[in-house]
Amino acid sequence: MDPIYVTKTFLPPRAEFDAWLDRVYGSHVLTNNGPVHKELEETLRTRFNVAHLRLMTNGTLAIQLALRMLGVKGKVITTPFSYVATTSAILWEGCEPVFVDIDPRTCCIDPDLIEAAITPDTTAILATHVYGIPCDVEAIDRIAKKHGLKVIYDAAHAFDVTYKGKSILAFGDASTLSFHATKLFHTVEGGAVVHHTDEDDKALRFLRSFGHIGDEHYTLGMNAKMSEVHAAMGMAVLPHMDALLKERETLSLRYVEGLPSICTRPSVPSGTGYNHAYYPIILPSADLRSALVEGLVAQSIVPRRYFYPSLNKLPYVHAVPCAHSEDMAERVVCLPLYNGLPREHQDRVIAAVRGIVDRA
Ligand SMILES: Cc1ncc(COP(=O)(O)O)c(C=O)c1O
Repeated sequence: MDPIYVTKTFLPPRAEFDAWLDRVYGSHVLTNNGPVHKELEETLRTRFNVAHLRLMTNGTLAIQLALRMLGVKGKVITTPFSYVATTSAILWEGCEPVFVDIDPRTCCIDPDLIEAAITPDTTAILATHVYGIPCDVEAIDRIAKKHGLKVIYDAAHAFDVTYKGKSILAFGDASTLSFHATKLFHTVEGGAVVHHTDEDDKALRFLRSFGHIGDEHYTLGMNAKMSEVHAAMGMAVLPHMDALLKERETLSLRYVEGLPSICTRPSVPSGTGYNHAYYPIILPSADLRSALVEGLVAQSIVPRRYFYPSLNKLPYVHAVPCAHSEDMAERVVCLPLYNGLPREHQDRVIAAVRGIVDRA
């Protein structure tokens, strides 16, 4: 039986990638803000209709440099329900993550709990649009303005998500994207920071590239540049995005129709143009989740416990209880969802889930 993995990277037709590689060979520029890099940056910026978008080596450095760009120090209020990079970026920047529990309906940070966690040392909120589901951006914006906090959204999953008619990346002081090969849109490895002022843009460009121009050194910088070859993959994938998004919607709807109602899902707020980045299901108990994962693996179907563990339980953070996030991390599982998932494979997944859940 062919194994079915939780995801499989979309690769554009080889001839299309080769055509972009030919341009790289033609220019003989492999990195340092080359022509393909510039074109990808501008194409994405226009697609999202945002003021500034800068490509990065990956989505983790994108968060780190966004924190630095905004001068974030001290305590950062953040979500415990995300990939570990959200928390580790805060720690690498020498800041302290302060975990605030999630709203179990959306799996995003619960804005009603944020104010109680703010102290004089708090300088920012870093929240994740988890699975591409928008955080309550309006409530977060109100709280941030009231307390003079910066807001960064980890939008690693939120490529092409819109909220009330505009890109979700337009909210907050900055948003970060991951273009890792497991993401909807990818550049093999890669990422980006979206931000809104010329001043931030100037700071970010220094941060991304060693902090100097020629012999003039201005600030402590990092090497977070994207290469031309990575940008070439992005340019080759981009023309396929609309079709890929449509296909994922169709696959998601097939799961909705095929799966038992006991498998609930995080809810997507109204006003969202969703991207179907993942297909998470929430089981009624940790025992059933465990039985499901084991049962699927036994049938060569490999789901992922996105997201586990709840990040407040990491061994290197200051632990505070986050009951909803911990509970969610015990009960959630992402089913295989990717472009090119054959119908018969999806039917196998549906039948296997039904078999295990109905037996329980
Ligand atoms: C929510 C979230 N944030 C950050 C990252 C880190 O991105 P990257 O792998 O591109 O560094 C990921 C995925 O890897 C992610 O899922």
